[in-house]
Amino acid sequence: MPPLDLSDIQGFILRGYNFPLARHLMLQINDASEGKRFVGSLINGNARLPQITSSVEWGAVKPTTCLNIGFTYEGLKALGLPPDSLASFPQEFVTGIAGRATFVGDEGENAPENWPSDYATAQTHIVLSLYAQGSEVLETATAELRSAFGQQNALIELGHLDATDLPESRVHFGYVDGLSQPCIEGGPQLRRPDMQPICPAGEFLLGYPSQNPDFSYPVPTPSILGRNGSFSAFRVLEQDCDAFEQFLRTEAPKIGMNEEKLAAKICGRWRSGVPLVLSPDTDSPNPPLTTEQINNFDYVPSDSSGYACPIGAHMRRNNPRGERVAGAGAHIHRIIRRALPYGPLYDPATPNDGIKRGLVGHFICVSLQDQFEFLMTQWVNGGTFAPGLYGTKDPMLGDNDPEDSKFVLPTANGPQIITGFARFVTTRGGAYCFLPSLTALNYLASTEMIKA
Ligand code: HEM
Repeated sequence: MPPLDLSDIQGFILRGYNFPLARHLMLQINDASEGKRFVGSLINGNARLPQITSSVEWGAVKPTTCLNIGFTYEGLKALGLPPDSLASFPQEFVTGIAGRATFVGDEGENAPENWPSDYATAQTHIVLSLYAQGSEVLETATAELRSAFGQQNALIELGHLDATDLPESRVHFGYVDGLSQPCIEGGPQLRRPDMQPICPAGEFLLGYPSQNPDFSYPVPTPSILGRNGSFSAFRVLEQDCDAFEQFLRTEAPKIGMNEEKLAAKICGRWRSGVPLVLSPDTDSPNPPLTTEQINNFDYVPSDSSGYACPIGAHMRRNNPRGERVAGAGAHIHRIIRRALPYGPLYDPATPNDGIKRGLVGHFICVSLQDQFEFLMTQWVNGGTFAPGLYGTKDPMLGDNDPEDSKFVLPTANGPQIITGFARFVTTRGGAYCFLPSLTALNYLASTEMIKA
């Protein structure tokens, strides 16, 4: 495969920035030519405005901000993309996140009609994701971007949501996150190696051979628009920390387990990040796991029964690695996670503080249907893809209902079963985004878009 043109691919697709702050701005385009002008201003080299960050390595000096952009189908339409080009996008993206809500489990309280209007909703055209080294540069860059939106409501900011990297890169519920990401052919090397196959570039980028043998996903037309682009499910996921801690407190003693161990069984890693498969009995093995070891494991053959890490644990079901699962295997449904917590650190000493907390960001893949939606429908909320699941849903993320929810912990003496819990994560917003290449952004900014 020829090398990837890193200068053409949006940076957050191929690498995590590890910045402490992020701000996601939700925009609506009311005037196509002003919309195009704004898009153009983000790639024209203007030193006074944050510019879209590509995947090129930045060397020794890290920038103070990074910027990336995603467009919904309605956003592309509002920019004036010709109908034949619009028609070349995959159906799930055209339908959009609100139209696919029931399918992925966003029902009832999670349904788009209940999403706050200042988060990502069906009205969102652009998700502008700004990452910053500190709050001062975040505010300066935000002010610069806002001044570039244009005049007379041509582009409206519907709302924004701030995210913060919590100490030790923990997410709410207390776990260290961001330890496992796909390694992409032609992309940067992973800091934490694993024993999974390298993902072909076409698993995350349009225009390359994909993870499915002899198959590349169709590139939206014209090819300068589609190639080197990708898709993301932008998600605002509220976490009920009170309910989660209460669950651990109530249920752990019933099965003779301490709360920390039950938390580990729910995720597949101890809250310290140590994987259960490598350390089933303690969250702080001695000697400690190295960076090379912490993600370098598989569930088979050593834990095929799930005695260490339950088959139904969050990370085992979202990436079963080498385990045998229904279909063509786990490696064809990988996802890149670029999400950070929003809301302040939860303090169990002051429960019910009424503050909203959760996880917000982009879940990136070349096919929303085969990756993000597959995960949500088959692995998170489906319970038949591997033996030992007993029809259960993801205990951390699943659409669980106390009427029939179950979490099964296999042991050598038979399964321990916890029942009767509600969902801990509620969807509060979202958008299916197209993440164009820099060439495509230039095309979208051009006054006359050619016919596809
Ligand atoms: C509030 C929501 C969520 C929380 C608190 C959460 C938490 C976590 C944690 C703590 C880990 C282990 C850290 C790591 O391996 O990097 C993890 C892994 C993972 N999660 Fe989530 N997650 C959430 C939502 C999601 C969603 C929506 C998806 C998929 C659409 C997802 C897919 C994954 C995957 C693929 C892994 C890595 C598994 C592996 O490669 O071994 N998560 N998550």
